[in-house]
Amino acid sequence: MTQSTSHTALITGGSRGLGLALARGLAQLRWNLIIDARGAEALNAARDELARLTSVIAIAGDVTDAAHREALVEAVVKKGGLDALVNSASILGPSPQPSLLEYPLDVLERVYRTNVIAPLALIQALRYQLKPGVCVINITSDAGVEAYEGWGGYGSSKAALEQLSHILAAENPGWRV
Ligand SMILES: NC(=O)c1ccc[n+]([C@@H]2O[C@H](COP(=O)([O-])OP(=O)(O)OC[C@H]3O[C@@H](n4cnc5c(N)ncnc54)[C@H](OP(=O)(O)O)[C@@H]3O)[C@@H](O)[C@H]2O)c1
Repeated sequence: MTQSTSHTALITGGSRGLGLALARGLAQLRWNLIIDARGAEALNAARDELARLTSVIAIAGDVTDAAHREALVEAVVKKGGLDALVNSASILGPSPQPSLLEYPLDVLERVYRTNVIAPLALIQALRYQLKPGVCVINITSDAGVEAYEGWGGYGSSKAALEQLSHILAAENPGWRV
């Protein structure tokens, strides 16, 4: 990634884990950042830390909520578009994870809404804000490839996100998905 104050990235799930690690890396490069997470306390702590290095907009909310995604789009518009979008926000589902035969379908729907539908919905909402050559990173998992017992809900959601990403790349050759 280039060192630049004119570059902007939106990272979902930026309050901890991989999302925060990526945000820290881009903050070192002085990229403008937009981050989200449901929990405002951890998100604001991340914002305060990152803001020592770069400009940061933190918006608390759930990526499955269309109104929250619209707030993210508005922030991106203010920043003049995106050079990178990282869909890192994700849920595992129940812990311990049930076998597929025992999997509560309402929870499976929530896992799919968060891990598959929301990343695509965000990309759809942001399509006119993605700069040429934008880097779109949808974080998947080895559980989307390997058949681990008990990982059928989360794993199948990540397999769907993986294939969705391949097809988005084929359909949008101007993006780096
Ligand atoms: N950890 C692993 O071993 C591993 C392995 C393979 C792949 N991955 C993938 O890597 C990515 C990051 O994993 P991680 O372990 O670093 O995650 P993590 O520590 O659990 O952090 C997840 C982040 O996403 C946010 N988040 C979760 N659901 C959200 C929602 N509905 N709306 C907005 N934000 C939401 C969380 O904050 P709130 O809870 O406050 O919303 C948090 O900031 C995920 O996509 C995960 O599936 C992780």
